[in-house]
Amino acid sequence: MLAEKHYRPLLHFTPAFGWLNDPNGLVYKDGEYHLFYQYYPCDSVWGPMHWGHAVSTDLLSWTHLPIALAPDTLGMCFSGTATVDYGDKSGLFNGKDGLLAYYTIAAEKRPDDVDFPQSQGLAYSHDNGRHWTKYSGNPVIANPGLQDFRDPKVFWHSPSQHWIMVVTTGQQVSIYRSTDAKNWQFSSSFGDGHGAHDERAWECPDLFEIKIEGSTESRWILIVGVQREAYAGGSGTQYFVGQFDGERFIDDHTPETVLWLDHGRDFYATQTWADIPQSDGRRIALAWMSCWPYANHTPTQSWRSAMSMPQELTLKPTNEGLRLHHAFIRELDAAHATTQSLADKTYTASASLLKTEWEAAARLTLNVTLDDNSSVSLTPLQGTQLILTNQNGALTLRCQRFSARGDETYEQQFPHDYTVELGANRKISLDLLLDRSSVELLLDDGRYAVTNLAFPEQGPSHLFSAEVTSGAVTVNNAHWHTLALPQT
Ligand code: FRU
Repeated sequence: MLAEKHYRPLLHFTPAFGWLNDPNGLVYKDGEYHLFYQYYPCDSVWGPMHWGHAVSTDLLSWTHLPIALAPDTLGMCFSGTATVDYGDKSGLFNGKDGLLAYYTIAAEKRPDDVDFPQSQGLAYSHDNGRHWTKYSGNPVIANPGLQDFRDPKVFWHSPSQHWIMVVTTGQQVSIYRSTDAKNWQFSSSFGDGHGAHDERAWECPDLFEIKIEGSTESRWILIVGVQREAYAGGSGTQYFVGQFDGERFIDDHTPETVLWLDHGRDFYATQTWADIPQSDGRRIALAWMSCWPYANHTPTQSWRSAMSMPQELTLKPTNEGLRLHHAFIRELDAAHATTQSLADKTYTASASLLKTEWEAAARLTLNVTLDDNSSVSLTPLQGTQLILTNQNGALTLRCQRFSARGDETYEQQFPHDYTVELGANRKISLDLLLDRSSVELLLDDGRYAVTNLAFPEQGPSHLFSAEVTSGAVTVNNAHWHTLALPQT
């Protein structure tokens, strides 16, 4: 097996050492993007949860900062949120602006507890997150008698002049409201019978307003994590498109509609950055690039788990209704080190489109048009195959990840073979981002996203190959980039 240093991504955030899971408290303030994250510094498997902390100005190069929140006598610090308190509405900042963080206090299990008893805690920082004080009145919301009560997302809702918290309450999310950020009232719940569920609680909600592209209207997006039975099997992120009136979320779709934010195995606990200035106006999402069934078993030792590439989300009308679309952040363009452009051309079976070696990170962007009953197969690195097929006018992507060597759980859970339906298309755009241990693919202008980890056993130099396996495939506007961390 490849040495673990060859698995540490070049462009994706990883902890210097120790274990990482969910992104927490994504917030922008005074020119810095903050990334807090579920962190266990003493081992590279999940353990008593802290909030790690890093900052960046371009979302690609990160500066590690000291741990922001650590367990105390009340319990561990599970997932949550951070937000700027503009104008000191909380009264915690002597009239200045400050940072509020809400996290789930996960207390010690008592003999009959199935899970850690959960309540919501508040911490605040006067100095852009460098030091945090836990609020003396914690918990700000006591447990209402639920096994699963966690992962608060909090934001200021200007029309109703309230702070809003959306938080997991079992198989639903609940909305709480507050005027002072410390005292909270229950308002409503959403989720029963809507979208995808498995036998476990939903996790890590996010709720935000987003403009409909090309229109003056907007909608609210509710994001939630499904722990075990998401699209590709294992953990995954779904979303709802609807309205939010300050008290209730109302789904635009029928309850049985299921919308997946990503169709991969490794895109979980997705959160978006709060307080990005309106002059920028982007809604940028980040996910934990792993999956609970094997997260503790991936083949690295001194550190474990990475974040996804940050992605800009937009809401666009489609024939099926409004759908979120993804784009890798534009800052990634500055990481293009070398570019090789391919001629526009039609290839027939079994011609090779491209065969090239890469190390560290690479990106391929192109448009492909598949004649009826054509297939093109991409092997971005050893152990992963992506097969795009047009069968009678319907496009599909088959995602295969082959058996890998590791411990028993990893060998059983990591391989996959599933298919994503891409609609009645012949022509589709692809934006494929490869890093040392991940394959992220955006298709159809980002309407579909597929994020999967990869731990090739060969390397550190990888072979990318793509060939037509049946029919005829036309390639346009194809560019292969090798990537390097931009100089800041
Ligand atoms: C999601 C999650 C959250 C919880 C955290 C604990 O991955 O299970 O619900 O707060 O991880 O680390």
